Amino acid sequence: MHSHSQSPILTLRNICKSFGGVNALNNVSFDLRAGEVHTLCGENGAGKSTLISVLSGAIQPDRGTITIGSRTVSDLSPNEAQELGVATIYQENVLFQGLSVAENIFVGAELKRASGAIEHKQTRRRAAEILDRLGAPLDVGKPLASLGAAQQKIVEIARAFRQKARVIIMDEPSASFGHHEVSLLFRTVREVSSSGTAIIFISHHMEEVFELSDRISVLRDGEMVGTFEAQTVTEGELIRLMVGRSVDQVFHHRPAMRDETVLSVRNVSGAGVRDISFDLKKGEVLGIAGLVGSGRSELLGLLYGSLPRQTGTLQVHGKPVEINSPVEAMTNGICLITEDRKLDGLLLEQSYLDNFLIATLPKYARPALNWPKARRDALAYRSRLSIDTPGLDTRVTALSGGNQQKVILARCMNVDPDIYLFDEPTRGVDVGAKEEIYTELQKLVDAGKSVILVSSELPEIVGLCDRVFVMKDGAAVRQLAVPDFTQSDILEAAL
Ligand SMILES: Nc1ncnc2c1ncn2[C@@H]1O[C@H](COP(=O)(O)OP(=O)(O)OP(=O)(O)O)[C@@H](O)[C@H]1O
Ligand SMILES: [Mg+2]
Repeated sequence: MHSHSQSPILTLRNICKSFGGVNALNNVSFDLRAGEVHTLCGENGAGKSTLISVLSGAIQPDRGTITIGSRTVSDLSPNEAQELGVATIYQENVLFQGLSVAENIFVGAELKRASGAIEHKQTRRRAAEILDRLGAPLDVGKPLASLGAAQQKIVEIARAFRQKARVIIMDEPSASFGHHEVSLLFRTVREVSSSGTAIIFISHHMEEVFELSDRISVLRDGEMVGTFEAQTVTEGELIRLMVGRSVDQVFHHRPAMRDETVLSVRNVSGAGVRDISFDLKKGEVLGIAGLVGSGRSELLGLLYGSLPRQTGTLQVHGKPVEINSPVEAMTNGICLITEDRKLDGLLLEQSYLDNFLIATLPKYARPALNWPKARRDALAYRSRLSIDTPGLDTRVTALSGGNQQKVILARCMNVDPDIYLFDEPTRGVDVGAKEEIYTELQKLVDAGKSVILVSSELPEIVGLCDRVFVMKDGAAVRQLAVPDFTQSDILEAAL
């Protein structure tokens, strides 16, 4: 625990914010102490991102007050928030890929000589000091683009630290990280907080929440349930506070594998993936483990035709197939649920209904588009996957992150493929929704569907899969079959 003063440096009082009919925040009060890591927990759509948008000045609340230091206001602009020392680190970073680490840390506050020329040497020296101070000795002369995702996030934190931010806000910063990257990031976060800067952190990973937090605030349906010292609550209690029921985190994988090959992959290479061969059985869940960057997502891209294959052949149900595009993959009964909902998954500006229909239009187009049926199906999936959207016509941008993820799943299930390629399917979804997705996955394999699952969450791999491939540098280095593998077997093979 930190020994910083217990009086708040930032306070929210009775904040209300609604979007149309949705009460995203209802009378929320919250306080933050210097030097603490304060985590916001809650289900998808609970209001976490909305709360931090109020603090970063991205949205203005309808009611309530914000006090930072000695100043109390009814809302903030992004500039005011920054001037008051609130730095926000978004999931997509806003750094300059072409500039060096040092230049990024000093962007907007370049060190200059009287002549106006930039003091490169001085910039590098001071940047190195800051990174040292944060326990992250990166090479400050390197271009940012050469760094991994976690290191880039560390550079963003270093910049906020250089700006003397009083508060650093991070909304699911580690969602796409593997274990190693998470620990790099957390080390920096701890250093920053021990210097007195407060951190507001959001994560759906209970392990991360308990590892990092001093205090935890729980939001539920836009209301503040309470704030707790991290040591005084258990994981089970926290989940009950978030979800309103206890969630059984044990996996119930019932093997459904049959001795019938659905997909044969032979000598597939391309996009950094080297010579992969395997047979996927009917009803099988095949896991693909490995570190971030080991080629797991690329392998799925090759099978789905979204990345160009250099060598190799594919057979579906014993017949050779040419899959060179996602459309061809879908025609052959293969669907991909992507890890990046913003980049390849969703049409954000369009409605849930449009996104739901986009892959299955022909199904409803005999002869004219059968809107009543389309709407019925969209409603059925909305309730089956508990997608929290006010209407079918709500634009996807207005949904919370986890609910966007479920829209992708609904769209894919409506295609009814035989083979599901899942890339980090539970990323960004809350603990309750995770359990729902696991249950859906079991229903799929019970119904004779086959699944290839890429996941960085080892419990997920061990709990759900019949067999697992461990990838490293683009190759499958190890194959492990249930029940004789553990998380540590997988880690060992991956490293
Ligand atoms: N721009 C917007 N327009 C309309 N509704 C919105 C908008 N932003 C958020 N909402 C709604 O406000 C509620 C809270 O959303 P918010 O994004 O804060 O949830 P969250 O707790 O961050 O969830 P997640 O864990 O899924 O990211 C949701 O019902 C969401 O649909
Ligand atoms: Mg969010």
